[in-house]
Amino acid sequence: MIVFEQISQMRRWSETARGQGSRLVLVPTMGSLHEGHLSLVRDAKKRGDNVVVSVFVNPAQFAPHEDFAGYPRDFARDRKLLESEAVDVMFHPSVDEIYPEGRESYVDVGPLGLPLCGAFRPGHFRGVATIVVKLFNIALPHVAIFGCKDYQQLQVIRKMTRDLDFTVEIVGHPTVREADGLALSSRNIYLQPAERQAALCLSRSLRLAGALVKQGEKRASVILDVVRSEIAKEPLVHLEYTNLCNPENLADVEAIDGIALLALAVRIGKARLIDNMLLEL
Ligand code: PAJ
Repeated sequence: MIVFEQISQMRRWSETARGQGSRLVLVPTMGSLHEGHLSLVRDAKKRGDNVVVSVFVNPAQFAPHEDFAGYPRDFARDRKLLESEAVDVMFHPSVDEIYPEGRESYVDVGPLGLPLCGAFRPGHFRGVATIVVKLFNIALPHVAIFGCKDYQQLQVIRKMTRDLDFTVEIVGHPTVREADGLALSSRNIYLQPAERQAALCLSRSLRLAGALVKQGEKRASVILDVVRSEIAKEPLVHLEYTNLCNPENLADVEAIDGIALLALAVRIGKARLIDNMLLEL
């Protein structure tokens, strides 16, 4: 596996590979890799000839009070994991390489970035879209893979790719969970044992809602009440939001018409965790 830290090296490698007819697949990450990331990498290997994984904790998507400084970083471990997955290139630039002094332009994502996490993390998706566009222009992928765990992020990136005429194919990869249902996240390491146990209420509440919908329940008010009361049973867990929305434009719906996205975000101790499920009648 080659490790590049410089934009120019990364781009030159991609230009050469493309010139030789290689189909390039990019998996953007912020490192601290877990089985969820590795599942994206394995998917990537099936979709092209060469896989590039970027590892970059992107300051532009963190608000000043958020966990940018404390976000887990373990380059040596990430490198080993990617090597063992036979990844071709790990792109690991510094913050100065990506955001040199004087850089001022951002990608404005529009209304898709406003609800759900966008309401609690103003500017977050602008930061995500900006780094993703930069990675597209640096790594020149044919395909890029993102997890459905961050559903709004995936939708924002799909929309931005269409709106800005990128030719990159965007792939959504299913959420990878622990055996007990907790969605894998780099932030799970913030959880103390009791908090880790309490965090099971996220996936549990989604499953309960799913079961209700299987029985024919369509009303958002009833479905969201089930989620809220399940979360309320855990005193360590503070619900930030839970919404039932249109899976395309993320606008709230009153009732499920075919398919809807049930999304939630909570705070548990130092961690902010999100999860979601598509509910189909
Ligand atoms: P990060 O949180 O490191 O996640 C990298 C990719 O892995 C994202 O596409 C995310 O959705 C996916 N992922 C994380 N946990 C997952 C899980 N349990 N199952 C499936 N996929 C999972 O998301 C980011 O980084 C950043 O915002 C990034 C897109 C890299 C831009 O900085």
